[in-house]
Amino acid sequence: MSGEESVHIAAAEMHMADSDLSESIKAATKDSHVRAENTELMRSYVRGQVSSSQYKLLLCSLYEIYRALEEALDRNASHPAVMPIYFPQELARLETLQRDLEHFYGQSWRQKIIVPAATLRYAKRLREIGEKHPEYLVAHAYTRYLGDLSGGQVLGRITQKSLGLKDGEGVSFFSFPAVSSPSLFKQLYRSRMNSIELTQEQREGVLQEAVRAFELNIEVFDDIQEMLSIAQPETDLRQRHIKHSHAQLLQDDKMMAKTLQITSPWSSAAPLIRMLLGVCVALAVGMGIYAF
Ligand code: HEM
Repeated sequence: MSGEESVHIAAAEMHMADSDLSESIKAATKDSHVRAENTELMRSYVRGQVSSSQYKLLLCSLYEIYRALEEALDRNASHPAVMPIYFPQELARLETLQRDLEHFYGQSWRQKIIVPAATLRYAKRLREIGEKHPEYLVAHAYTRYLGDLSGGQVLGRITQKSLGLKDGEGVSFFSFPAVSSPSLFKQLYRSRMNSIELTQEQREGVLQEAVRAFELNIEVFDDIQEMLSIAQPETDLRQRHIKHSHAQLLQDDKMMAKTLQITSPWSSAAPLIRMLLGVCVALAVGMGIYAF
């Protein structure tokens, strides 16, 4: 390596070290953002169409993710790397998700929600860093909340339109009543991120964690899509052609019910039970004839 080259690299590293955390994190996750936008689930949104099965499974996953994220943030609220970006009044999503889940699944939604393995891995990682590396929480809070306040706003409108939902019912997750201007709030959030004091090592850890946060989201989206493709290939095909309506919503629910039945141990046991009943009836009849 020439002397000139090493001077350039050192200058670039110094620039990275000096630049604001909010800028560095955006630069570090630029490619990951493109990959997230190109997942099949997000592409449905980009096409302006999302099915109720997709959205309901997304809500189930988001509930687990925000439960873990917000518990970790609450527990570390006074940590110096968390305090500046701790905005529960403005940002907390858990209650909105509970409301939306209740809208779709009814009061017993807790017994009905379905969570893919990738979501459990994401939640596990959030709990882990809440305990061992609270300074990394900024990477996860940034990825989710700033995403929700950016592209997320468009996703909310597409969901409402695709599923024909009225009066914000089922889409309260996307609404931030305590944030009057998302773009101004994002500016404030970025300046708070930039005020966090981190060692060089911690800063690098945060940047890596942000890339990981995007990766975890991508895995969740892929898992959701895979669950749907196994459960309802026919519906998927139809969804490409049919505009969504209440009839579609009902159809999706029937398909989901089918999925649940498939996983039920009783469904596979049914032929066995029928056979045993048959044997019992035959024995009873046989014994009756014998007694007679
Ligand atoms: C269809 C999918 C998506 C679209 C169309 C989209 C669109 C956008 C747009 C237009 C912005 C820029 C807003 C601005 O500069 O004010 C943005 C920012 C952002 N998005 Fe997305 N997004 C999508 C998916 C995602 C996903 C899945 C995540 C993460 C899980 C995410 C996380 C973020 C974050 C963290 C920012 C803030 C970047 C920054 O200013 O530092 N986005 N998104």
